[in-house]
Amino acid sequence: MKYEVFATYDQMCRRAANLISAQIILKEDAVVGLATGSTPLGIYNTLADWYAKSDLDFSRVRTVNLDEYCGLPFEDPQSYHYFMQTNLFSKINIKPSNTHLPNGLAPDIREECKRYDALINSLGGIDIQLLGIGHNGHIGFNEPSDTFSKDTTHIRLTEDTIRANSRFFKSPSDVPRSALTMGMRSIMCSRKIILVANGKEKEEIIHQAMEGPITPRLPASILQLHPDTTVLFTIE
Ligand code: F6R
Repeated sequence: MKYEVFATYDQMCRRAANLISAQIILKEDAVVGLATGSTPLGIYNTLADWYAKSDLDFSRVRTVNLDEYCGLPFEDPQSYHYFMQTNLFSKINIKPSNTHLPNGLAPDIREECKRYDALINSLGGIDIQLLGIGHNGHIGFNEPSDTFSKDTTHIRLTEDTIRANSRFFKSPSDVPRSALTMGMRSIMCSRKIILVANGKEKEEIIHQAMEGPITPRLPASILQLHPDTTVLFTIE
C-alpha cells in the first residue's frame, strides 16, 4: 500500500481528483467506483470544476457506487442516489444511464445483490475505486464481522455506523438500519484503489488498517493484499 500525507484537505482532494482524472484521460470509458460520505465532497467539487473548465470529459465514463441505504426513496436527501446526483452527476456531462448504484428499494433484495454483481462484471470490473473508511474500519458498508463478504450484500449497520451517520439525519432513529453494499470481491478486483480519510479521529484506524493484522474485524485491512492501493490522508 502506498501512503501519502497532505497538509490540507484541499491538497488531498486535488491529489485524489488527479488520480481519477488521469484514469479517465487514459481510458475515456473508464469504470469509476465511487463513494459517498463527507470525505469525497471536495474531490467531487474538484472534478466538477475541472469539467467546467473543459479539462475533463465524462461523456463515456461509467460509474458504480459502493452502497445505498435500504428503504430510502431516491429523492430522499439522505439517499446516496440523491447525494451523487447533487454533488457530482448534475454538475458533469455523465450520461444518467452510465451511473449505477444498488437499489435499496428493490422488492427482491437477494436478486438485487446478484444483479449488481452481474452489472459490475458486465462492465468489465472497476478501473479505479474511490473508498472512504468508517471509524470502525468499514469500507463501503462492509462492517466488522467474522468473515469478509465476497458479494454484494444486504447488511445490518452497526451501532457505530448508525451513530456516525446520524449527523446527516434529524435524529439517530431516522438512520436506516440496513444497506446494500458492494462486496470485497468487486472492491479487491478493482485495478486501482484510492482510500481517502481526513481528521485526527481517522488516524489510528488508518494505521491499524495498513499495518495491523488482516482481519474481517477491520474490513479495510484486506486492502494490504491489493496490488495497487494508495491511501491519502490529512489530519485537517
Ligand atoms: C459510503 C461509504 C462509507 C464511507 C465511510 C466514511 O459510500 O462507502 O464507507 O466512506 O463511512 O464516511 P465519511 O467520509 O463521511 O467519514
